[in-house]
Amino acid sequence: MSTTLTVNGTSATIDLPPDTPLLWALRDGLNLTGTKFGCGVAACGACTVHVDGVAVRSCQTPLGDVAGATVTTIEGLGNPDALHAVQAAWIEHQVAQCGYCQSGQIMQAASLLSETPSPTLAQIDEAMSGNLCRCGTYPRIRAAVQDAARRLQEA
Ligand code: FES
Ligand code: FES
Repeated sequence: MSTTLTVNGTSATIDLPPDTPLLWALRDGLNLTGTKFGCGVAACGACTVHVDGVAVRSCQTPLGDVAGATVTTIEGLGNPDALHAVQAAWIEHQVAQCGYCQSGQIMQAASLLSETPSPTLAQIDEAMSGNLCRCGTYPRIRAAVQDAARRLQEA
């Protein structure tokens, strides 16, 4: 059985069972490997993507549930010539260490700023609290989210 959805602005038909987690449909079906597997039980945020503009854990989202939806992954958030403000801020603050959790962190932060353009520190901490980083980049994540909010307001 196949599922058709829009991924990063392009229509895609994925020929996998509908109970396949979106994470694996993206990685194995479309070779979009920027979205990472961390825990598989919606507890770490490494697999965060946007579905119809909302951050979701793709490891716990069945492919069949997103038929017809619009999905954005880290590969589609911006591009080298036109970085998303969150990506630009991440570079400015050199947030990443090993990098494994970072695509999920960036997708979560972008979702926060689309819903709450001027978040308080408490709102940033709350929104990012489900995205784990074993390298402990939390202080730089916090600073980069504040920077990205400024960039979006000045754009
Ligand atoms: S891999 Fe999905 S939340 Fe951890
Ligand atoms: S940068 Fe290494 S896990 Fe977050």
